[in-house]
Amino acid sequence: MVHEILVWPNPVLKQKAHPVAKVDDELRQLIKDMFESMYAADGVGLAAPQIGVLKNVIVLDTTPRQPDSHPVAMVNPEILTLEGKCLYKEGCLSVPGEAEDVERAAIVTARYLDEHGDSKTITADGLLAIAIQHECDHLKGVMFVDHISALKREVIRKRMKKIQATIEEDRAEEAAAAKPEKKKARSEAR
Ligand code: NI
Repeated sequence: MVHEILVWPNPVLKQKAHPVAKVDDELRQLIKDMFESMYAADGVGLAAPQIGVLKNVIVLDTTPRQPDSHPVAMVNPEILTLEGKCLYKEGCLSVPGEAEDVERAAIVTARYLDEHGDSKTITADGLLAIAIQHECDHLKGVMFVDHISALKREVIRKRMKKIQATIEEDRAEEAAAAKPEKKKARSEAR
């Protein structure tokens, strides 16, 4: 099921997510939903808090730009080592239409549980390394905009508020348009 992705500065995105105690069918369903939501939004990574679930789960798929990588779901990911530095223009599904340079480590080694609850270790570079750091940040309530200047962040915040207002307006219009439909359907049924 595709879930709505929360738009920053939604307060849920500032909260810390919690460790997953058990990798079960319910969690596997969450992972499936996260992949579907990420693909529907054309993203390369998604963290559970972005769909309002405060659990330490991230999904990643950088294969379009790194053909040697593969889609991966990480439960309780933990960054073990960071090496080197790189600058990359990052975006985020919770900050639609925005991209800013963020400095990250170039190579990341992380430990996580896979969708079967098995412990795995991954060493990644390129976009996957950046995405792992970006998504792990989400689990701590940190956004990529927290890594840029306050001035740029405030400009983006204003644009996001406008987007949020438009979404709410559309919703109100849809709700208003749906009401007469229901009445009509009821009178036709009589
Ligand atoms: Ni993000």
